[in-house]
Amino acid sequence: MDDTPKPGQLPSSLTELQVAARAAGFTMSCEPRTGGLLATLAATRPGGRILELGTGVGEGTAWLLSGMDGAATLVTVELDDAVQAVAREQLGGDERVTFVNEDGGHWLEEYDGAPFDLVFADTWPGKFNHLDRALQLVAPGGAYVIDDLTPTPDWPEGHEAAVTDLLAVLEGRSDFLTTRLAWSSGLLIAVRTGGAGAGGGGGTST
Ligand SMILES: C[S@@+](CC[C@H](N)C(=O)[O-])C[C@H]1O[C@@H](n2cnc3c(N)ncnc32)[C@H](O)[C@@H]1O
Repeated sequence: MDDTPKPGQLPSSLTELQVAARAAGFTMSCEPRTGGLLATLAATRPGGRILELGTGVGEGTAWLLSGMDGAATLVTVELDDAVQAVAREQLGGDERVTFVNEDGGHWLEEYDGAPFDLVFADTWPGKFNHLDRALQLVAPGGAYVIDDLTPTPDWPEGHEAAVTDLLAVLEGRSDFLTTRLAWSSGLLIAVRTGGAGAGGGGGTST
């Protein structure tokens, strides 16, 4: 089975974003198969509240938006203004998305709004730090998604151990049901099955 998303399934802005990413030398965008899964998960949440940590140039953002209905909303947080500017230029006209140019850890610490139905944690904060806080922001029945879990030759020393630890922590959570996907860049989906999932206040910065 060829599981690569076909032309008719791609977000309309994807080609332009890929061209801009190449021009900017940005190589960290999600793979198309991951993007297709993000779009599909977003489509399971009519009127849903979606969070992306790490916008990059906006390829994941475009995939998420392509699956969302008209009432769903997306907040995407990125530290690098120049990188996110590419996404804002291509996708900023879509009223469903809010771009935040800020350190993701600081944003997670300060956020005091409602929890999210889908969290794509695609940078350090919310994944390798501030994990508890990101999980706290997942609503009951909501999903937390991470990718880039399969080792690659360019991983820095110590990263594989960090990923192993991350998987152990996530799979040890009694309030989430987790599934690993040894597919695309290596993913894990964790769905909140217990606990409240809360917005403001508290949380840790571990
Ligand atoms: C893997 S890329 C994101 C790719 C994007 N989500 C996609 O699917 O196309 C990770 C991004 O996180 C950003 N980043 C790094 N440290 C960050 C931080 N502390 N807070 C927010 N974003 C950060 C990087 O600049 C980079 O654009």
